[in-house]
Amino acid sequence: MRVLGIETSCDETAAAIVADGREVLADVVKSQVDLHREYRGVVPEIASRSHLEVLLPVVREALARASMQPHDVDLVAVTNRPGLVGALIVGVATAKAFALAAGKPIVGVDHVAAHAYAAWMDEGSPPPLPFIALIVSGGHTVLYRHDDPFTSTEIGSTCDDAAGEAFDKVAALLQLGYPGGPIIDRLAKEGDPRRFAFKPPLANPRDPDDLDFSFSGLKTAVRYKITGENSRDATPTPLDEKNVRDLAASFQEAAVDGLVSATLRAAERSNARAVVLGGGCAANSRLRARLADACAERGLVVKLPRMNRCTDNAAMIAGLGFHEFRRRGADALDLDAVPTGSDGATP
Ligand code: KG4
Ligand code: ZN
Repeated sequence: MRVLGIETSCDETAAAIVADGREVLADVVKSQVDLHREYRGVVPEIASRSHLEVLLPVVREALARASMQPHDVDLVAVTNRPGLVGALIVGVATAKAFALAAGKPIVGVDHVAAHAYAAWMDEGSPPPLPFIALIVSGGHTVLYRHDDPFTSTEIGSTCDDAAGEAFDKVAALLQLGYPGGPIIDRLAKEGDPRRFAFKPPLANPRDPDDLDFSFSGLKTAVRYKITGENSRDATPTPLDEKNVRDLAASFQEAAVDGLVSATLRAAERSNARAVVLGGGCAANSRLRARLADACAERGLVVKLPRMNRCTDNAAMIAGLGFHEFRRRGADALDLDAVPTGSDGATP
């Protein structure tokens, strides 16, 4: 079954063709990052307008790369939740029009669940159950327990900023570019991760059963270290090359400490056999290495997505859409865009 996937939930306009949930025949991603750079974050109205302009050419390109015509598509899978409402609507309306015109079924896909699927889609078989999925992106920071490959229970999430949002905001404080995640990742390799002892971004560090995160405190701690505010000696840290590298490395280390420790606690509590990582921050080299080492030490299977499946893409949407369709059949053409809340499974 050849599935056309459409993804427009945030700032990537993407279309892909995936056969039987895993064989990627075409994977087209058009990033809007240049449009949002000057604002150092995604501007929803700009995002929706750009999706509107770019989506049809992107869909056409995906079909062309797979040497397919619209009637060769067997199923249309579209991200319909969660995300920016205007951005989602563009994808959902386009997918419905395609499905109606070509006479094909349509299925709505949960974006966050698709990030978890991205880690094992190339393998075809799911990780051993139960498994824990840690999804870390610009908009989401969630821990799920999976007793089934395609349905999940949320067991932890962020109370404020998402992990990727914190990377982007700290990069802005350090006067670096946008998006900040990849830049911090690169600079941190040359910095001292122990120089500034930032606290891990855990909402309730004293409660081992609490699996929630709080990234805004970590971001503020970096800001205070730069400005000298709230410190006893009120000494600012000038943003010279060495300090920027050490601040980047120390921030990243604290962020990774918090994410890895909560994931391991979640795995222990759930008697999990595997850990799955997903989302834009899954590209972070330190997070990948620390999580892989920690899982290996504990005998846990770890699934890390390929680098091109970490940030938003439509291959993961087409892939998960195939399984959703097999599990519950098609959605009706009144399928809605749902901006908030991710159930990790069915709409
Ligand atoms: O999954 P994604 O494309 O969009 C959302 O669904 O939100 O994630 C984008 C986020 C950005 O915040 C970006 O800074 C972050 O992923 N990111 C990284 C890295 N690459 C991208 N964060 C840390 N390290 C990276 N190497
Ligand atoms: Zn995403």
